[in-house]
Amino acid sequence: RGKWQTFKSVVKYGTVGAVGYGLYSMYHQRFPGEQLPFDASKRTIVVLGSGWASTSFLKSIDTEQYNVVVVSPRNYFLFTPLLPSCTVGTIDVRSIVEPTRFITRHKSREVKVYEAECTEIDPVKKTITIADNSEIKGDSAQATLEYDYLVIGTGATNQTFGIKGVEEHACFLKEVWDAQKIRTKVMDCIETAAFPGQAEEEIERLLHMVVVGGGPTGIEYAAELHDFLKEDLASWYPELAEKIKITLVEALPNVLPAFSKQLIDYTETTFKEQNITIHTKTMVKEVKEKEIIVQQADGTKANIPYGLLVWATGNTVRPVIRNLMAKLPEHQTVRRGLAVDDWLQLNGTEGIYALGDASATKYAPTAQVASQQGKYLARLFGQLAVCDKMEEELKTLEDGDEKEKKARKLQKAKSIKPFEYTHQGSLAYIGSDRAIADLPFGGGNVASGGVATFLFWRSAYLSNLFSGRNRSLVVTDWIKKNILGRDISRE
Ligand code: FAD
Ligand code: NAI
Repeated sequence: RGKWQTFKSVVKYGTVGAVGYGLYSMYHQRFPGEQLPFDASKRTIVVLGSGWASTSFLKSIDTEQYNVVVVSPRNYFLFTPLLPSCTVGTIDVRSIVEPTRFITRHKSREVKVYEAECTEIDPVKKTITIADNSEIKGDSAQATLEYDYLVIGTGATNQTFGIKGVEEHACFLKEVWDAQKIRTKVMDCIETAAFPGQAEEEIERLLHMVVVGGGPTGIEYAAELHDFLKEDLASWYPELAEKIKITLVEALPNVLPAFSKQLIDYTETTFKEQNITIHTKTMVKEVKEKEIIVQQADGTKANIPYGLLVWATGNTVRPVIRNLMAKLPEHQTVRRGLAVDDWLQLNGTEGIYALGDASATKYAPTAQVASQQGKYLARLFGQLAVCDKMEEELKTLEDGDEKEKKARKLQKAKSIKPFEYTHQGSLAYIGSDRAIADLPFGGGNVASGGVATFLFWRSAYLSNLFSGRNRSLVVTDWIKKNILGRDISRE
């Protein structure tokens, strides 16, 4: 009985404590306090981008030591792993974005945030040019900023391999507006197919959803589209649903080349069950307004009519980065991104660091790598600040034992460990409440696929979401989808 009383008290006070802490955190999050002002005596770090790399850096950087300026054309962080779910309305895009100012307003020193695109980097003068490329511009829409340190986290842009017609006719899947455009187009294709007098062949074309690229983006999008078709469209368009076809085109012999063989087979089998056609060893050569031209491994060409085309063939370098690389021809020779040393410093420069998809390292261009690099770089800057302080102190000391001791200490502090990536596994959603996972375990790898992995996928993404606010919104979206279904209005 005594133990039972103790247990009840622990539960009672624990709950009160947890609720109190939750309320306090919410209040603190909602009403941030005073911040230190910009300090001219401190060095200024300019951070480009508000994606995985830059946001992780921002979260960890000690603003007591530095002035920080953020420049990004979007004023929010986007949780890309759940973006495919937004293309069909499983999740609302607003649930997976977090405004950058929600982060910067909680730093100890004021952080300047400019919604702008960096258009030029001058590594000699240590300046960048920024431009307001948003719809609404004021009289001032261009500026030059000086930096002591520049952190480049501008990510990558969509790879098209220069294939004719891709930019004009295909939809990409990288940003919030891409997901919104896809969602609108899917519904437009279906409503247009329902228009009176539409010929059977035209209906077939309009209802043919083609995905190019069998990497994780293409696979996850096709999976979400399948779920939308089965769970919602079949009810609201009974006469058309049967005619909706999903096709995935991949140049390589199989999809998901980065996953283990058994998961590739599992995905291909699941797609077959879901009536998603996969054309492997098939390369898209040209995109026209209503059809794509593909070439098979034996050289034969074919035309595939489509209503919606989603292009997911990976990443390439952004123009501003290409321009910077051209200024450093001897040091920047890797075509897929900025070459950096083991401490993420840009080869051929001083004070410029690159991370995430903008950089070319031995790691895959993933959110996991980008966020670990961001965290690492913030730590490195912390260490640099310590070294700066020690150097200043050293200057004030007379020659002697004390100075030598401090000099040795400084030398030790300067030997900062290089960046090391810890892989936490690869996950992908493949439709019908199934997911696949390649997880590192005891020096090896555990591969799993199915409904249990889907639950793991959900909980992993939920716990990795940026904030409690995001988590509650995503959970609400999932519940809403299960109870009310997805919205089919064309926005
Ligand atoms: P981004 O996150 O792309 O951020 C780049 C930032 O730079 C953006 O804020 C952008 O607005 C800004 N920017 C662009 N141009 C400029 C400029 N000129 N000046 C200033 N700022 C600029 N990875 C995983 O590990 N797991 C997953 O499940 C996963 N799922 C994904 C799903 C999808 C649909 C996609 C597209 C990618 C997914 N990825 C995933 C990959 C992951 O999103 C990227 O590797 C990651 O976003 C890279 O982070 P980054 O900070 O380098 O670039
Ligand atoms: P990707 O580079 O992984 O895959 C692109 C695919 O397109 C390749 O398999 C390629 O062979 C194919 N392709 C290229 N040109 C083609 C053509 N002309 N015709 C047909 N197929 C063609 O690109 P993706 O999926 O956009 O991923 C980019 C990065 O983001 C990767 O590093 C990936 O790991 C990461 N990512 C991870 C996710 C996850 O872990 N769940 C989800 C989405 C992306």
